[in-house]
Amino acid sequence: MKPIIAPSMLASDFANLQSEVAMLNASQADWLHIDIMDGRFVSNISFGFPVMQAIQRFAEKPMDVHLMIEEPELYIEQFRKAGADTITVHYEACTHLHRTIQQIKDTGAKAGVALNPHTSVKLLEDVISDLDMVLIMSVNPGFGGQKFIENTYRRIEKLKELILSRNSKALIEVDGGVNQQNAPLLLESGVDVLVAGSFVFSSADPAQTIADLKNSAK
Ligand code: DX5
Ligand code: ZN
Repeated sequence: MKPIIAPSMLASDFANLQSEVAMLNASQADWLHIDIMDGRFVSNISFGFPVMQAIQRFAEKPMDVHLMIEEPELYIEQFRKAGADTITVHYEACTHLHRTIQQIKDTGAKAGVALNPHTSVKLLEDVISDLDMVLIMSVNPGFGGQKFIENTYRRIEKLKELILSRNSKALIEVDGGVNQQNAPLLLESGVDVLVAGSFVFSSADPAQTIADLKNSAK
């Protein structure tokens, strides 16, 4: 099975958002990865609802929304209305994670949970069967263009074991520092969804880079 490719809009040219989305529509990208940062959960602020709605106007592919925000439960409905197909919240930002997962599903969106590099995958064992996706951070969240953390492969293997042992249908998404070098090993470790920001948008031919990632050999 070929991986799902989700280019991160954070690395796109915001002054030319419409043409960036058109490029992704015409490319082999499967989803648009949307990074929302609040300046509290992470020390950066990205963009909010108006920009997301602008992307939604032109996007012909599902929006995969990664919430790097405190108290995400306060905004789930609004993100769904702004076009989110998948809503991923951080384990570290949710006091009542089980309730928040149900809240996401009640909107009709798919539910994901993201784990920072220090958070053990074991902590998901009691919710894994409720999840549509787990996002493994392979950098510390907050910024694009960071270096991939090598311990990520081990974490993905452990997560894959947990998913299989619980008969969960959750997809494994990896986010941060993904490139053509680590993609094959990530797929071999069990990854289903590759997020890539700077590697795609800083390349000379983003659509070709997306195609290359899509065809990464396991
Ligand atoms: C980081 C974000 C990522 C980021 C990935 O906090 O969650 O989605 O945009 O960018 P690259 O691929 O440049 O590491
Ligand atoms: Zn992300």
